[in-house]
Amino acid sequence: VRQTDAVPGVYYHDYLQLDRLLSSQDLASSRTGGPAAHDEMLFIVIHQTYELWFKQIIWELDDVLACFAGDELSEVDIARVIARLARIVEIQDVLIGQIDVLETMTPLDFLEFRDLLVPASGFQSMQFRLIENKLGVRPDDRVTFGGARYTERLEGEQRQRVLASEGEISLHEHVAAWLGRTPFLDEFDFWTAYQQAVHTMLEADRQIVRDNVHLTTDEKQAQLKAFEQTFHMYEGLVDADAYQRLVDTGVRRWARRAFQAALFISVYRDHPALHQPFRLLELLIDVDEGFTTWRYRHALMTQRMIGRRVGTGGSAGAAYLTRQAERGRAFPDLLALATFLVRRDVLPPLPSELAEQLTFRYQP
Ligand code: HEM
Repeated sequence: VRQTDAVPGVYYHDYLQLDRLLSSQDLASSRTGGPAAHDEMLFIVIHQTYELWFKQIIWELDDVLACFAGDELSEVDIARVIARLARIVEIQDVLIGQIDVLETMTPLDFLEFRDLLVPASGFQSMQFRLIENKLGVRPDDRVTFGGARYTERLEGEQRQRVLASEGEISLHEHVAAWLGRTPFLDEFDFWTAYQQAVHTMLEADRQIVRDNVHLTTDEKQAQLKAFEQTFHMYEGLVDADAYQRLVDTGVRRWARRAFQAALFISVYRDHPALHQPFRLLELLIDVDEGFTTWRYRHALMTQRMIGRRVGTGGSAGAAYLTRQAERGRAFPDLLALATFLVRRDVLPPLPSELAEQLTFRYQP
C-alpha cells in the first residue's frame, strides 16, 4: 500500500472503528432491573476477543487454502503456508492462555448471569465451526446430542455458511492431494527395506516388554497383543489391500500414497529439499494439537465452572466437551506417523542419485 499526499491523516479511533467495537458489550444482567453482574463484562469481552482471533485464523487459513488450490504447491507457496500456519499456532497459544483470565471468574460469579444465557452457547459459534470444517473435521467426527446435527443450532446466514463450508475442499484434503503428488516415492523400493527396519525396531520393543520384571504376566500379554495390532497396521504400508482395510474401518483417512509420502518426508527430512515439506507437516500437527489442547482446557474450565451440570446449549457439559476433544482431530494420519518411525541408524539410506536430487546447489 502506497502512502500519498492525497490520503487524509487517519485517526486511531476511527481507523479501528472503536465506537462500534466498544459499544458492543451489552450485559444481559443489566436488563433485568437489578444491578448488573460484574463478571458478565469479562464473559462478553473474552468471547468477543475469541471471535476476533477466530476471524484472524480464518483469514490465515483461507490464504493457506488458496495456496493449495493450484495444480502444484511451489517452494514459494510452501514458505507462505508455513508463515501462515506458524502465526495460527501463536494465536492458539493466546487462545489457550485466555482461559486463565476467564477462570478469575468463580462459579458463583458465573451463576449470577448464567441462566440468562440459555440456550445460547459457544456451540453456536459460526467462526469456530468454519475453522473446524476448513481444517477437515468431518460431520461424522462430531459427537451429537439431542438427535440434531450441529448446524441445526445455528440460524439464518450462519447456518448457510457453515453448511456451505462442509462442501468445500478442506486443508486435510488439500494436504492429502499434495502428498499424493510427491514424486520421490517411485524412485526406489523404499518400502521393502523400510519394512525390515520397522520389524527390527518393534522386535526390540517387544523384548523390552518381555524382560520387564515390573509387569505381571497379564500386563505383558496385553502389551504384546497391542504390538500385534501395530504390526498389523504396519502391513498396510507395503500391502495395498491391508491399507485399504484400514481406510474402510476408519483407522486411516488418507490414501496410502499420501500416508507413505508423509512418512518418507518425515524420515528423510534431513535432506534439503524435504526441510520445508517437513516443517509444513510439523505445523499441521501443531495446529491440530493447539485446537485439541484448547478443547481439553475449555472442558476442564467448564467442569470447574458448572461441575456436572448440563451446558447452556443443552449438551452433557464437560463430558460432551471431553469426548469431542478426543474425536475432533483434523490430522489423525499425521499423528499416527510416529508409530512407524525408525531410528536413523536402521533407516535404509537413499540411493545416491536420489539423495543428490534432494540437495540444493547454488548455480553461479
Ligand atoms: C463460563 C465459561 C464457559 C462455560 C461454562 C462454557 C461451557 C460450554 C459447554 C457446556 C459447551 C457444550 C455445549 C453446551 O451444552 O452449551 C460449550 C461449547 C463451546 N464453547 Fe464454551 N463455555 C465457556 C466459555 C467459552 C468461551 C470463552 C468460548 C470462546 C469462544 C467458548 C467456546 C465454545 C465453543 C467453540 C464450543 C463448541 C465446542 C464443540 O462443540 O466442540 N466457550 N461451552
